[in-house]
Amino acid sequence: MTTRRRFTLTQYLIEQRRRFPSASGDFNALVLDVALACKAIARSVAFGELTGVLGNPVVDVATSLNVQGEEQKRLDVISNEYFTQMTEWGGHLAGMASEEMDEPYQIPDTLQRGKYMLVFDPLDGSSNIDVNVTVGSIFSILRAPQEVIDSGRDVVEADFLQPGAQQLAAGYALYGPTTMLVLTVGNGVAGFTLDPNLGQFMLTHPTMTVPEDTQEFAINASNSRFWEAPVKRYVDECLAGKTGPRGKDFNMRWIASMVAEAHRILMRGGVFMYPRDTKDASKPGRLRLLYEANPVGMLIEQAGGRASTGREPMLAVRPTSLHQRIGLVFGSKNEVERIERYHAEPQAFKDERNPLFAERSLFRD
Ligand code: AHG
Ligand code: MN
Ligand code: MN
Repeated sequence: MTTRRRFTLTQYLIEQRRRFPSASGDFNALVLDVALACKAIARSVAFGELTGVLGNPVVDVATSLNVQGEEQKRLDVISNEYFTQMTEWGGHLAGMASEEMDEPYQIPDTLQRGKYMLVFDPLDGSSNIDVNVTVGSIFSILRAPQEVIDSGRDVVEADFLQPGAQQLAAGYALYGPTTMLVLTVGNGVAGFTLDPNLGQFMLTHPTMTVPEDTQEFAINASNSRFWEAPVKRYVDECLAGKTGPRGKDFNMRWIASMVAEAHRILMRGGVFMYPRDTKDASKPGRLRLLYEANPVGMLIEQAGGRASTGREPMLAVRPTSLHQRIGLVFGSKNEVERIERYHAEPQAFKDERNPLFAERSLFRD
């Protein structure tokens, strides 16, 4: 049997760097540090109960909530530590921010500081960890403001509040049947599979693209009573299937690990929605802008799909806070554009209390 020649992540990054002849290599080194953190997390996840890493932290349950007020799992904490430990010493970072840290993380004084900022969700879908379902890590790389680079000062929240369009790179690692790293450095999307024998991410999916059309959608339907009218309309139309206004049957999926849903959509298309809803007025959406919506948005758009709030392109949103939540719709272009159209022409749905405007009669003829 002949073995197949495959590129490693390192080789891929070197190839990509040829587009920027003046690049120092710092950026590549940073991505490799992130990949190392992901490999470490993959090992922890794989050992599961054997090493006692499942469940909540040993501390009092009352204190094991993160800044979002969500339950923090032991592996959330461990994964966060891998990210900070593996990336802080390289000299490439001005600072970091994470779902699991209330405030920006400062590179210790004893270490060199650099020109990039790393923003991450160390473990996405962590409610799935105890039931052995795919989880992942999501990351985004930003350039630090010039004045931060020049002064070497501590980073503050405002430094991170950059629109997604300014991301230099974004990616995720997926801890599923295989461990994968999916990455964009602004030149398409490439997928790498961890070869457990070599401990190397090998390029297995050189050009990931999201098909423009789909018949598969993902949404947590238990929230349907809180959805806004355009979302209700879209889902109703999908559910109506062949005999409804869409004239085709749709399939539905919900893993509750957004990172795994993003991967499915990158592999075979689909649309994912965690839209803004009326469930809790203090939370304009469930997912976080800086380390969930923006990196996934960049990946999806680099793969030819679309990411949106429903009202505007995700990557155009000006962040207002580090842990800001936002409504998120992403996936196959034609479906996301349709959902945006439904948001743009909501007049007919404005007065839902008026029985004359019962949705069904409005759009089903
Ligand atoms: P995290 O584990 O980082 O808090 O994120 C979980 C997110 C996302 O991955 C998933 O799509 C969503 O929460 C699941 O929400 P429901 O619990 O409403 O299904
Ligand atoms: Mn998450
Ligand atoms: Mn998380």
